[in-house]
Parts: sequence; structure tokens; C-alpha cells
Amino acid sequence: MTPRDTLLERVRAGYRAAYGEEPEAIYAAPGRVNLIGEHTDYNNGLVLPCAIDRETMIAIGPGKDRRIEAVALDLDGARDGFEIGGAIEPAGDEWTRHLRGVAHYLEQDGGSLAGARLAIAGNVPLGAGLSSSAALGVVCGLALSDWSGMVQAPQKLAQIAQKTENHFVGTQCGIMDQMASACASAGTALLLDCRDLEYRHIPMPGDLALVIIDSGIRHSLGDSPYNERRAQCEAAARHYGVASLRDVSPDQLVADRGQLGDVEYARARHIVTEIARVRAFSQALITGDSLAIARLMRDSFASYRDDFEASVPAIDHLFDAISQVLGDAGGVRLTGGGFGGSLVALAPAQLVEDIVAVAAPCNAGVFCPSDGAKRIA
Ligand code: GLA
Repeated sequence: MTPRDTLLERVRAGYRAAYGEEPEAIYAAPGRVNLIGEHTDYNNGLVLPCAIDRETMIAIGPGKDRRIEAVALDLDGARDGFEIGGAIEPAGDEWTRHLRGVAHYLEQDGGSLAGARLAIAGNVPLGAGLSSSAALGVVCGLALSDWSGMVQAPQKLAQIAQKTENHFVGTQCGIMDQMASACASAGTALLLDCRDLEYRHIPMPGDLALVIIDSGIRHSLGDSPYNERRAQCEAAARHYGVASLRDVSPDQLVADRGQLGDVEYARARHIVTEIARVRAFSQALITGDSLAIARLMRDSFASYRDDFEASVPAIDHLFDAISQVLGDAGGVRLTGGGFGGSLVALAPAQLVEDIVAVAAPCNAGVFCPSDGAKRIA
């Protein structure tokens, strides 16, 4: 059985146990891994994530009047219920804040939600930097809107899920994770311009496997220095007199540094060089240039570690060990918000076993670039 089949069975059975009948539809939204372009999203830059074959699912069926009820199968059957049609409060535990926020913004947008009962379950590892919360937000948006007969563009679902994270959950994340979860396409990476949400699907190279190594170091964006990094980037943008660091060229970065302090300068240098690396990396994927892939991932990690100071010693060691295995045959770097979470590698199939071995006791495995959110049953 695939992870999807197992989850599908679990969410169906959970719905049945909670509400005593069969669900009428099932929706899924994937987690994501970012290949390159870290912290560039809220700087209006470029990112290159792909969706993975781990996802959050919602089984849904009719509810009473205009009431939403939900059960969180992964959280000991925790429950929430709220009325729609009036103001929806950002109350309760984190999982239901996603549901409430998405319902709130769908209604605020002019939609009229139908009452529903939901069972929610997922298999995206929590806190591993693989965007379990974006998967939750996006699947809530898709399930509630589709169930209510509202057609929403995937970009719109991503924006609603991000607004929910910002205002109902309280993390100042960018738009990358939600866009990946909503808009990805199997076998490809999503080259996304975060300024206007234009994107292109870039085929993944057939000769390199997508390997994810979970460091086991847990973080949450809320209590990590994520928000501090964001503030430093915004301060640097103000120094250069631009709306975001996207508008600073590599030449201008150096020429107009003036009195900008060392820390803000280093943060800005990471963003400006990282955006250039996303462009070059996309090209390298298209041409299948594994030497360039290896070099750009290495440079990206160094910039993330040294200029953005988003790594931790245990991850530096994992990076060194895996780099030794890969040589120039593939690339590896820290993925996601930083300060823990996972590394991502693009590796020839014959080196995967060695990567798993040097990464032990951390979990490492091959993942499949997957489709974005959709109704699956
Ligand atoms: C987290 C955030 C994203 C992005 C990454 C870093 O995953 O949710 O918006 O900023 O960190 O690239």
C-alpha cells in the first residue's frame, strides 16, 4: 500500500467512527520540499519547491444548517465546531485555527459556505520543515470551497491559507509553501515568482532522486528566529530604498551598502545571491547539468549557514557527511525555514543507500515530486 492508500483508509474510517456514516468526498493537499530559494518568498523573490508524496486529507460530508464540525484524527480525536455566516473567531488549538481562518476568509471573499462535517488526518512529518501546516490550510480551503460549490483558483486558495497562517495562527510566513501545496504538478518543481505569483513547472531530472533527510531537530516558525530574519531583510530593503530585496541587484548590493550594518548586509547578500541561484538552478534542471546543480546547492547552503545564519551545528555535520558521499554527482542543502528540520538532496540512485547510511540515525528516504491539492475521491 502507498502512503496515500493507508491515509485514505484512515481518514475514511475516522469519518465513519466520528459521524456514523460514509463521507461524500475526500480532498488531499501535499507537503513540500524546497529545492532552492530560502527566505526569498517574503522578499518578493523566486523559489523552487516541489510537492511531496506526503499529504493532509479531509473526508467531508453534509453538516447541520450552517455549522462546521471537525475531528482531528491525529490529535486523539480532538474536536471543534463553529457557526458560519457570522464572524469566525481565531480560537482553539492550532489545527482548528487553520480551519476557522480559511472558513472566515472564504466567506469574507463573498463565498457562502455550506454546513459540513470533516475528518482530518495527515502523514506529513510535523516540524520537519516539510510544510504540514500549509498542507492543512490548503486542504481546508479546497474542501470547504469545493463542497460549497465555490470554484477557487489554486493561487487564491494559497493566499487564503497564507492569510490564515499570518492572522489566525500567528506566523509571519511567506507564500511559498501554500503555493507549492496548491499549484504543484507531479514530476516537476514549481518555479514561482513571489512578486506576482506567476509560476512554471520545471521537469525534475530523471537521473537524480529526490532525497529528504529529517535531522530530527524540531522547530516552529513562531519561536524560531524566523520573524527576526524577516525584520532584518525589511530593514535592509529600507536602507536600499526599495519595497523589497527583490529590487536590489548584485551590483547595487555592494555599491550602495553605505552604513548598512554587517548583519543586515549579510542577510541581504543571502537574499540577493539566492534569487540569482534560483534562476541558475532552474536552468540547470532544464539542461540536466548535475555539476551546476551540485555547485548551486552547495553555494546556497553556505549562504544560508554563513550569511543568513539559519543552520545549526548538527545540520552542518549532516551536510558535510552527505556532501562527501555526493561529491559533484548531486547536491544537498538545508531546506525550509531553518534552525532545524530537513535537508534535501538530489542524488544519483546508486548513492541513495550511502546517504541513508551516513545520515543514520536520522530518517532519510526517497520522495516523489507530486501533484498539488485536489479531490481524490
Ligand atoms: C517557511 C515559510 C516560507 C518560507 C520558508 C523559507 O517554510 O513558511 O514562507 O519563508 O520558511 O524559505
